[in-house]
Order: sequence, then C-alpha cells, then structure tokens
Amino acid sequence: MTTRRPFVGGNWKMNLTREGAVALARALAGDDPASEALEVALFPAFVHLDAVGATLALARSGLALGAQDCYPEPDGAFTGEVSIPMLGDLSVSAVLVGHSERRHIIGEPDDLVARKCRAVLDAGLTCVLCVGETLDERQAGLTDAVNERQARSALQGADLDDPSRLVVAYEPVWAIGTGRTATPEDAQEAHARLRAVLSDLYDADTAESVRIIYGGSVKPGNAAELFSRPGVDGGLIGGASLDARGFLDICAAARGARAAHGATTP
Ligand code: 13P
Repeated sequence: MTTRRPFVGGNWKMNLTREGAVALARALAGDDPASEALEVALFPAFVHLDAVGATLALARSGLALGAQDCYPEPDGAFTGEVSIPMLGDLSVSAVLVGHSERRHIIGEPDDLVARKCRAVLDAGLTCVLCVGETLDERQAGLTDAVNERQARSALQGADLDDPSRLVVAYEPVWAIGTGRTATPEDAQEAHARLRAVLSDLYDADTAESVRIIYGGSVKPGNAAELFSRPGVDGGLIGGASLDARGFLDICAAARGARAAHGATTP
C-alpha cells in the first residue's frame, strides 16, 4: 500500500510577463489546489520567482514555489547562473533538474545534471529530476535504456534520506509541446521500469516512496486517464499550466485519481 502524495507541477518555462505571472499565481492561490491530498508546485522563470513567491505568501497559499534550474556551486565566478542558496533566499522549495529542453536545446550533459541533482537534495530541497527519450531513441527501441541511463547517472551515490524530496518526471521528449501524449499504458510501463531502477539504486521501500510523474502534453481532457494508472503519481504540466482553470482541472484530476485508487494501489 502506497502513501505517496500525488504531485502536480506547473512549468511555466520562458513565458509570461511579471504582471501575468503574478496574476496567474493569484488566480491559482484563490482556488488553492494544494492540500494534504496533493502537492502542487509552480515553476516560474527565475526573474518572476520573487514576485510570485510574494503573491503566494500574501495569499497564505499551500502552493510551493519552484525554480526551473539551478547551478550546483554555492557561489563564485559562474556568469549568468543562479545558485541554490540564492533560490533558498526566495523561499524556493523545489527545483527542476535535467529538463529535456535543457538537455537537448541548451546541451546540458548527464554529469552536470547529476551535480545539480545532488546539490538540490543535499540542500534539503525537493528535486524534480526529468528523464525521457527522444523520438529517434524511442523508434530505436531505446526508451528504457535512456530513462535508466539518465536516472542512474543523476542519482548514483546521491543520498536519499527523505524519499519524498525526490520526484522523477518521465517526460518523453516527443510528447512535449507537441500535442502527442504517451498512452496511459506507455506511461505506466515507463514508470514501473523507473521504479525498478530506483529499487536497485536504493531499496524497494525507498522506490515505493518516490513520486514518479508524467509530463508531455497533459491537458484537462487527458489528465484523469493518465493519473488513474498505477504508479503515475501526478504530472509536470507545461502549456496547460499557463491557464488557471485548465491547471486547476488537472490538479482536480490528480486528487480524483488518488481518491479512486491512490491509497491502495502500487
Ligand atoms: P507540455 O505540457 O507543454 O507538453 O510541456 C511538458 C513539459 O515540458 C513540462 O515540463
């Protein structure tokens, strides 16, 4: 029996003005989807973290504030980068690590992703580690191999004393921003394989406690079916998180899935 609390993240990517980000945060906090039954984090652009954080604090919202990236060193000559202590100053409690847009557009390698993953966990923040295969890799039958390589390389040797502070986001690259979604069966299978990797890296209990969420064209219309799958513990939402009503509906789907089966299904 799992006690995993579902997790839904809104990855706003490089979108919104400061005013738009504050308005979206205010709208979400006004109908706060976060509760004991659901953890929800918002990931605005770095330059909007302060304003969004202040908005959430003013509303006494349970929504967590997250950053889309970080640099693993605490300070120094790293022009353009943002450290974890700087994020901590802004009350950031979660960080996305290894998002596919950083891996494939910016060219971030596995070893840098691993350093970030460890630094976030060591700092006591929640690490949302993103993994996923490209279309070419999928067509070559490499889906499981890529997911396993990315998960192992990021987590090898990483202490996980509190497994609730690791969230693994399975985001097939071909499904991101394309309107193509992995089938619920595909997501369930990839999640089960990732959980087996976690069990091998740590132990079965730890693997059972880590949330594994799905990302890639999740919308209000497909969220309930995806989240109803055993082992799919929520979602990381891009485009659909920019619309308050749609994002709230996706959060409701995650709560509904947990109510339906989450407390008793592996
Ligand atoms: P979309 O929901 O826009 O496909 O983006 C998914 C994603 O990359 C979340 O991190």
